[in-house]
Amino acid sequence: MQHKLKIGVVGTGFAGECHVRCLRRIYGVDVEIAGVTSRREASRTAFGRRHGIPVFDSVEKLLDAVDILDICSPPYVHEDHIVLAAEAGKGIICEKPLTGFFGPETHDPAYRGDRDDKKNMLTAVTARLERIAAAVSTNHSFFGYAENFVYAPGLTKEREILTKTGAQILRMTGEESHNGSASPVYGIWQQAGGGSLIGKGCHPLGGMLYLKRVEGLVRHGKPIRPRSVSARTHQITRLPNYRDAGMIRTDYHDIEDYGFMHITFDDGTVADVLTSELSLGGIYDYVEIYANNHRTRCNISPSGLMDVYNPRAKQFEDIYLLEKISTTEGWTPASPAEDTTMGYQGELQDFLTAAAAGTAPQSDLGLALDTTAAVYAAYVSDAARGQETSIPLTWEI
Ligand SMILES: NC(=O)c1ccc[n+]([C@@H]2O[C@H](COP(=O)([O-])OP(=O)(O)OC[C@H]3O[C@@H](n4cnc5c(N)ncnc54)[C@H](O)[C@@H]3O)[C@@H](O)[C@H]2O)c1
Repeated sequence: MQHKLKIGVVGTGFAGECHVRCLRRIYGVDVEIAGVTSRREASRTAFGRRHGIPVFDSVEKLLDAVDILDICSPPYVHEDHIVLAAEAGKGIICEKPLTGFFGPETHDPAYRGDRDDKKNMLTAVTARLERIAAAVSTNHSFFGYAENFVYAPGLTKEREILTKTGAQILRMTGEESHNGSASPVYGIWQQAGGGSLIGKGCHPLGGMLYLKRVEGLVRHGKPIRPRSVSARTHQITRLPNYRDAGMIRTDYHDIEDYGFMHITFDDGTVADVLTSELSLGGIYDYVEIYANNHRTRCNISPSGLMDVYNPRAKQFEDIYLLEKISTTEGWTPASPAEDTTMGYQGELQDFLTAAAAGTAPQSDLGLALDTTAAVYAAYVSDAARGQETSIPLTWEI
């Protein structure tokens, strides 16, 4: 792909807005946002008008007009759009999580994912991952997995340290927690594919799986991959003795609001992921690395760039300080360059640069497949109260 790259965006919510904002700042590659689509006519028309982007009423029609489909829709539609794009010979960018398990074929309002059989879920998800892997590899499609942690400045610097020093990572910890999600479908297993583990835990998990991949490639010419997981989940806001102070979102239908995953890699080293919907004070994201020759703490959010004191909330009512912060009164660890510090800008820049050069991006399909398999193996482990569970990795990366 060396000509102008035409991008088609699917989805006009938070992720669609973020991708368009970042795509507008790409340098060194001739990029055109050639179209957008979403499910509701009113929102896609308004989005197209706001950003000056042609509007299409279906993904199929959008595909005809673009080189790369940028999938910013909810997780339950990702798989079909990936396969459609691959079979049409188009490149793909896909938001996290890659895919998941979304209940029975036809929507059942009585379905509860938290009570469903997790081994069956893992089997079904593995089949989906294999379908995606086959479609992408058969058609030699470009694939960018939109895991922004990979591109957060701290992890980018950590990649340089690993590459230049040949370090061995012995253990890692990481977290993504905040107070729920803005998406109306979050909290419903049939649309989100699970709760904190898949919705938020996939971020630090993806970042840490990425770093072990880099370490393996540097030292042995092949990625170090996750082998097994032990996990627990809880529904803290559903406890009979939970005291609702009206500040934490609680309206989850059938998902966990806290999760923990302990990952063992095929070299015997480990990573621990914490994730929850129970964190006030804005998005809390970090990855910490304990290596044989250095130690790193990557602060993703708060990033540490700026602290703002505001004595009266009213005077800041039009000023954005930090994602998911519930008040601007008092001290706020503000995020004045969120697209950069969260990794969104670096992610889109790498995808477009790699697509234009015909190379693979840092965050690729292999990372997406391994992350998703690890999360659903974690749900199996949780159902067995934390028993160590193998992560089925049936694809070559
Ligand atoms: N990397 C991050 O930090 C980050 C942050 C937020 C969301 N996300 C991910 O981005 C994706 C979208 O999340 P969001 O918060 O923007 O969701 P959202 O609910 O705000 O928006 C989803 C959009 O997808 C559209 N859509 C739904 N079904 C569709 C279909 N069948 N065909 C075409 N369009 C369809 C909707 O109309 C809507 O415009 C999710 O996978 C989410 O996990 C990632």
